[in-house]
Amino acid sequence: MITKEQKELIERINRLKKGKNAVILVHNYQRPEIYEIADFMGDSLELARKAMETDAKIIVLCGVDFMAESAKILNPEKKVLHPSKLSVCPMAQMVTKEQVLELKKKYPKAAVVTYGNSTAEVKSVSDIICTSANAVKVVNSLEEEEVVFTIDHNLAAYVQTKTGKRIIPIEGYCYVHDKIKAEAVKKAKKNHPGAKVMVHPECKMDVIELADAVCSTSQMIKYAKSSNAKEFIAVTECGMVNALKKEMPDKNFYSGGGTCIQMKKITLEKVYDCLLNEKNSVELDKEIMDKARMALKRMIDVS
Ligand code: 13P
Ligand code: SF4
Repeated sequence: MITKEQKELIERINRLKKGKNAVILVHNYQRPEIYEIADFMGDSLELARKAMETDAKIIVLCGVDFMAESAKILNPEKKVLHPSKLSVCPMAQMVTKEQVLELKKKYPKAAVVTYGNSTAEVKSVSDIICTSANAVKVVNSLEEEEVVFTIDHNLAAYVQTKTGKRIIPIEGYCYVHDKIKAEAVKKAKKNHPGAKVMVHPECKMDVIELADAVCSTSQMIKYAKSSNAKEFIAVTECGMVNALKKEMPDKNFYSGGGTCIQMKKITLEKVYDCLLNEKNSVELDKEIMDKARMALKRMIDVS
């Protein structure tokens, strides 16, 4: 339910963004009131693509830090604003550039594939980036038979089931998805026997094995839209059911995951303040951006 105060703020933000020639890109996990100011909603791959396509002068990225950084890397000449500096994905902090360089030395023939949920520094020493939407495609597009895969170990395990290449994972995980238990998904299936199960590949393999479809966040929307089923269990961050319901009000969605508190740090008040005062501009080292851009663009070309 959008309150009267929120409605007023939404109108003010929408007026402000027109006046400033700004575009607001919103990840699917954001609070439902943030959907109301979105020019575009999507998964991390789609947000990166949209950031590349826009003519707007300012990009406001409502998502976690690495999403705002990718928008900046792809648009170094544009102002990219991130409404909350506290909206930081913990997984992206789990692997350092030094760890990647160490593994590169150990496996000189391997390609380095880095999950988008990573720092700009780690991206800058990677051959190519991937997201949950394209990880299998990215890995299978490579000539190399060995792949150092950072950061998510669950995604790495899933990719290993879909490729003949040898995946060498670096330890890292999402605290929201890693916590989801197969038992809980089985229970949800029992409670909703007609429901299709959509699982994000940041989940553990025993959870993924229960899926009717393994999907990025936006792929869940596409899958549910194209399915004849009326009920779905979305095994991912709980905010995803709001994005699904917004697109398909006539279908039922049940959440199979907890909350990403970092995603919810962005509020309407923070977006308004950030855009009005043009604060929290993403600034990164030019050399790091130039190298990271090559890896990001290579992914976009593959997918
Ligand atoms: P998507 O790319 O599927 O939107 O996932 C991003 C993310 O952070 C999932 O936890
Ligand atoms: Fe990071 Fe997990 Fe939150 Fe996604 S859900 S932003 S991977 S902590």
